[in-house]
Amino acid sequence: MKRHLTTTALLGTATLVLGAMLAWVPGPAAEAQAPDVLKQIQPNDEMLKNGATLFAANCASCHGEQGKGDGLAAAALNPKPRNFHSKDAWKNGQTFAGLYKTLEEGLPGTPMGSFNHLPATDRVALINHIRSLAKANYPDPTAQDVETLQKDYSLAEELAAGGEKALIPVAKAVELLIAEDAPKQAKVKQALAKLKAGTDKGSMLISSSSYDQERMLTMLVNSGDSWRGNVQDFSKMVMYNAEVNGFRSMTGSYTSAQWSELQNALKKLL
Ligand code: HEC
Repeated sequence: MKRHLTTTALLGTATLVLGAMLAWVPGPAAEAQAPDVLKQIQPNDEMLKNGATLFAANCASCHGEQGKGDGLAAAALNPKPRNFHSKDAWKNGQTFAGLYKTLEEGLPGTPMGSFNHLPATDRVALINHIRSLAKANYPDPTAQDVETLQKDYSLAEELAAGGEKALIPVAKAVELLIAEDAPKQAKVKQALAKLKAGTDKGSMLISSSSYDQERMLTMLVNSGDSWRGNVQDFSKMVMYNAEVNGFRSMTGSYTSAQWSELQNALKKLL
């Protein structure tokens, strides 16, 4: 599905392509090797450096730069982001498997979203960054952790896939759409610039609801006017696959008033 597709054909098949991507599953599973995996998830300097960078970009806004639960957004959140230096109030716990589960699934019904759009190697780096903040609070990963994660999330295959996570083909499909459809591309670019410059409440809400604004806007532009109607349909469409569409999974805990506000802000922008 590369170069020779015309724009019209491409747009015609966009739904199909994205539909197929949603059903994408990792290839044949390699035999899980627990001791190897246990070795792979041990931190080294490079992993910790990567983990710190990922943390600053993805987590610090809520959890604070030092992970004390005091990020810029924390004041507005309920429940409050976890303090990684404390043992109190943990839901999935401070074991390696507990941390991985949290990043895989989020804590539903709270602002803590899933981060399974990040490659497993990045999530492991993030976990090791958190563990490095208060070593005594976090038990070392065990063979039992690895076994649980293998059973629940095919950890070995996820790690072997490295940066090539399930979302990459979708990102490529979206890139392709952007590359081959100039008017829509222009619309997305224009909206993106407007959004970046905007300091009003609506722009802030859009920005904080999305982890990848280009992807979010592209999805909306490509779906025509279908998202502009009834707010329930809009929220359903976003939530159907929030992360693939560039939205944060925390939108799942928005109230109907927040959904309306978000929809209206997007209507104004696009
Ligand atoms: C939008 C704000 C927000 C962002 C961004 C965020 N978190 Fe959270 N996180 C929370 C909140 C709020 C809680 C506590 C929820 C609760 O008490 O149920 C939480 C809880 C957690 C927990 C504790 C789980 C447990 O067992 O109780 C971990 C671990 C965690 N976050 C890791 C991360 C990491 C790593 C990132 C970045 C990749 C991240 N969070 C980004 C808001 C956020």
